Amino acid sequence: MGSKNKLKRFKENETFANVFQPTRDELVKENYQLKGKWKKEVFKNNNPLVLELGCGKGEYTVGLAKRYPEKNFIGIDIKGARFWRGAKTAIEENIPNAAFIRTQIELIEHVFEENEVDEIWITFPDPQIKYQRTKHRMTNLQFLERYKKVIKPGGLMHLKTDSEFMHGYTLGLLHGLNYEVLYANHNVYKLEGSPEEVTEIQTFYENQYLEKDKAITYIRFKIN
Ligand SMILES: C[S@@+](CC[C@H](N)C(=O)[O-])C[C@H]1O[C@@H](n2cnc3c(N)ncnc32)[C@H](O)[C@@H]1O
Repeated sequence: MGSKNKLKRFKENETFANVFQPTRDELVKENYQLKGKWKKEVFKNNNPLVLELGCGKGEYTVGLAKRYPEKNFIGIDIKGARFWRGAKTAIEENIPNAAFIRTQIELIEHVFEENEVDEIWITFPDPQIKYQRTKHRMTNLQFLERYKKVIKPGGLMHLKTDSEFMHGYTLGLLHGLNYEVLYANHNVYKLEGSPEEVTEIQTFYENQYLEKDKAITYIRFKIN
């Protein structure tokens, strides 16, 4: 995408009522005004809150919001020009239960109050295979601890990935931590039993892997 187009999207994001772009200081130094208040102030209801982390264009945020009007969905990504797509679709299609936050996932505990979140989807995270990149891997111990701070006890975690490495790494880690794996499938389109939303919603990255006939995997788990 050209830089002109990006700028246009950044500008448009600022006008979208369903886009939130807190600064680092607002989150870390101050008590962010929406922390603990997403349901009441943003969605104006008390429905469950579901996050999509590293949402890219927000296919899961929008796709799940349409399927589950009785839940609230927030896509989070650092790249505003990507989620512009999802935010714009939500506005054009009048989907009131989808929103987007531009921030680093590392700051999630400053964005949400303890127990504020009901479910978390992680969709096609970069596996960060190189040893030096381990700290950026979105299911490492440090990230799981961050999710644990904001998700309700018993809240569901979902990981959908094309990376065999990420799938195996996460399963191994969950096993070692004695966290409950509710469902795991290492080839969701070929093996039976995948939940509907796992096979019926495809993301931008996923489509590229599907073209190359890569297996897509899924894990549903709990982290407490
Ligand atoms: C491989 S892409 C997948 C995007 C989308 N879920 C999909 O399947 O098409 C990973 C996304 O995670 C975002 N991301 C990676 N690390 C992040 C972080 N620490 N905080 C916020 N976003 C991050 C990137 O900007 C990118 O959009």
